[in-house]
Amino acid sequence: MFVHAGQGYAGHGTLCGALGVSSYIINMACYDDKQSYAAIIDRMMYWYSEMKFPTERFDDISPIPKQAQAQAMTPLCHTSVSKWTLAAGVEVTSKDKYERCAKVAGEVVYTVVYYLNEYFDGKWKPVIWTPSENIAHCIQCHGPETFPEYTDGMNQQQGHMECLLCHTDHTK
Ligand code: HEC
Ligand code: HEC
Repeated sequence: MFVHAGQGYAGHGTLCGALGVSSYIINMACYDDKQSYAAIIDRMMYWYSEMKFPTERFDDISPIPKQAQAQAMTPLCHTSVSKWTLAAGVEVTSKDKYERCAKVAGEVVYTVVYYLNEYFDGKWKPVIWTPSENIAHCIQCHGPETFPEYTDGMNQQQGHMECLLCHTDHTK
């Protein structure tokens, strides 16, 4: 049913497919009037961006254990895979890469099940996204007026990704 999500949706390298499918399931399972689904998905996206992938959780059953790790810094398939292939020194069509992506998908599923258990056990506390130190000033000027202290923002950009991965800091 979700095979289209592979390789960042039909090979286009957009959102990591594991995140897309998980978002769909979280939306269905945690649809409530507090918009818990949105908070849970947001937390999943920044967890993913900061995570060093692949984790070693599946090494016991993996034909290629102890792989090189890299942080994607965005939820995008494109950066996640490209940064990792460079770190690991392997090609994008290699067995190593398929193994790595299988582990990433497994880790996402594990983490989402953890979140859903928290939610259904009544232990879920919404975590509100705050910008990292590196990008707080970007959000202050460009960001949406989500934060009371940032009301003078230009309110022209949307999103919680790490700006400096793609932009240079023109204030420095
Ligand atoms: C003090 C306010 C301020 C801060 C801080 C700031 N910007 Fe800007 N930025 C501006 C203004 C003003 C413009 C010009 C906007 C326009 O022309 O509409 C701009 C333009 C841009 C542009 C458009 C391309 C360009 O260079 O002209 C990008 C992309 C951008 N900023 C990204 C960032 C990022 C990423 C950060 C944080 C590392 C950041 N900005 C921090 C005020 C700021
Ligand atoms: C995954 C890469 C990526 C990330 C992360 C990212 N951007 Fe961008 N952003 C782009 C691209 C690509 C454009 C289109 C640039 C263009 O057309 O010149 C853009 C456009 C913009 C523009 C409009 C600039 C213009 O004049 O075209 C602003 C402002 C901007 N981004 C700010 C930010 C801020 C602030 C952040 C962090 C919260 C951020 N971006 C994160 C890739 C990214």
